[in-house]
Amino acid sequence: MDKLAAHNPESNMGDYDKARSTFRWEDVAKNFEFSVTGKVNAAYEAVDRHVEELGDKIALRFLDDEKEVTYTFRELSVASNRFANLLLELGIKQGDRVFIFMPRSIELYVAFFGILKIAAIPVPLFEAFMRAGLLDRMSDCDPVAVVTHNSLKDRIPRDEVPSLKTLIVADGAEGDEISFDENRTRKGTFEPVWLGLDDPLLIHYTSGSTGKPKGVLHAQRAIIGHYQTGKWILDLKKDDVYWCTADPGWVTGTSYGIFAPLLNGVGTTIIRGRFTAKRWYRTIERAGVTVWYTAPTALRLLMGKGEELISEFDLSSLRLILSVGEPLNPEVIHWALKAYKQPIHDTWWMTETGMIMISNYPSMPIKPGSMGKPFPGVEAAIIDDEGVELGVNEVGNLALKKGWPSMMKSIWKRDEKYREYFRHDPWFTSGDAAYVDEDGYFHFHGRVDDVINTAGERVGPFEVESRLVEHPLVVEAAVIGKPDPVRGEIIKAFVVVKEGVDESEELKSELIEFVKKGLAAHAAPREIEFIDTLPKTRSGKIMRRVLKARELGLDLGDLSGAGEGV
Ligand code: WT7
Repeated sequence: MDKLAAHNPESNMGDYDKARSTFRWEDVAKNFEFSVTGKVNAAYEAVDRHVEELGDKIALRFLDDEKEVTYTFRELSVASNRFANLLLELGIKQGDRVFIFMPRSIELYVAFFGILKIAAIPVPLFEAFMRAGLLDRMSDCDPVAVVTHNSLKDRIPRDEVPSLKTLIVADGAEGDEISFDENRTRKGTFEPVWLGLDDPLLIHYTSGSTGKPKGVLHAQRAIIGHYQTGKWILDLKKDDVYWCTADPGWVTGTSYGIFAPLLNGVGTTIIRGRFTAKRWYRTIERAGVTVWYTAPTALRLLMGKGEELISEFDLSSLRLILSVGEPLNPEVIHWALKAYKQPIHDTWWMTETGMIMISNYPSMPIKPGSMGKPFPGVEAAIIDDEGVELGVNEVGNLALKKGWPSMMKSIWKRDEKYREYFRHDPWFTSGDAAYVDEDGYFHFHGRVDDVINTAGERVGPFEVESRLVEHPLVVEAAVIGKPDPVRGEIIKAFVVVKEGVDESEELKSELIEFVKKGLAAHAAPREIEFIDTLPKTRSGKIMRRVLKARELGLDLGDLSGAGEGV
């Protein structure tokens, strides 16, 4: 396998093996105020603590096609103090869950830090979610309030979530809703509620192969991991202009769109508007982005637009490009070397890990096709189904030794789900299959479960199937990920309709719309196939892997356990 020369040996981390041999998480904690005061609040460490030295430095730079809004560290500190004061006045208190359901905007970030300052628990949600998606998540963790925007508020299932008392609405509050702007008249000072390192930080919902989405609860200690990976993987330096393209509704958008840069005293770039190659290149040029953290699907789409488009923009500011979320094809790295004059650094992690666990470092040669090596302070291994460590080049379960600071604290209200990850204690089992080569580089092999990864977004088949069967003409549905050259996978649904129903193209479109409108656009199938019966085990579980194997024209494997429909 080819190996590319290290991109930048002079990076913050320097030599990987050396960093690894001397690294201690205890030393990282010394970079925080809490190591002196014993008082922890992530919002204080990310924002307020910088005000004295970096008060006038830009913390948030928001760009849309027309305008640009910037907030300095001082402005962000004051605005989030005002918001914290408003929240307290509304009776919201420590430990309460507060959803953030907003389009990307400065307000989203102000709300996020305001919620953290009162030690309530923010639950950021991607703006594409529709009513059923919101309801599943809200009825799981009973929020007392939602911070939202006029354009999204109608999707909030207010009547069905009894705990939900308060809607804070930007750009047009009505009736008993609280206007977001009310915070402007509140005091600009606020003493954060002080916590311990193991106290809650935030919740991100994510999908598994069975059941409804899980609320992954992170602890304040996560910031230790965000800070250090920001320094050594994103290689952030004080003059960097950093852009993470992920939405804060996903963990990448908080861990690396908010915490990693701000904790390092570096501003973060935020854009509004859908992906287009021109808009993204224009953003790099306008903001002068130096470090860019994005996703393979986006890079493949950009690759599809070709190099000529690049020549219309000045991208010379870029010095480091990274990606996450799905396998990064070697082809994309080779293309990037031509098109951007530099490679892409793959990083691997999950919502549950809270921070990057395996990565290609600027100072380490890249092997295209490999996710890289474990972060210093992180131990990764490949284990079999009994928890026994496997050897070089043997495919097995990718596992991580528990104890890194950003590891999730729990799964909300579902202890047994949490314990499942640690069935081979002290290993955390990721759900990914991988192998490690003779040089210690890790290689992704696939998911071991039915979780779908479409354009870097994790979708649980059960959630989509549940929505499909809500349609009056549908009896049953099974959903799989089907390989796709751009999106990694697309969602394909196999649907059994009621007797006598016409299996028409119109019905297919209607069902796709039904999922889009009810659940979320990114969770809607792109392909539907009508089928007479679904393959099931004798106990009645849908055998999605049979459908997948059939779709791919593969050998159906061991089907002992199978009942009818195969
Ligand atoms: C799953 C986690 C937190 C990052 C964003 C996604 C897949 C993640 C890679 C990579 C191949 C990857 C895995 C993982 N994944 N990074 N570099 N190469 N696959 O977070 O939604 O929790 O999904 O994304 O399958 O388990 P997530």
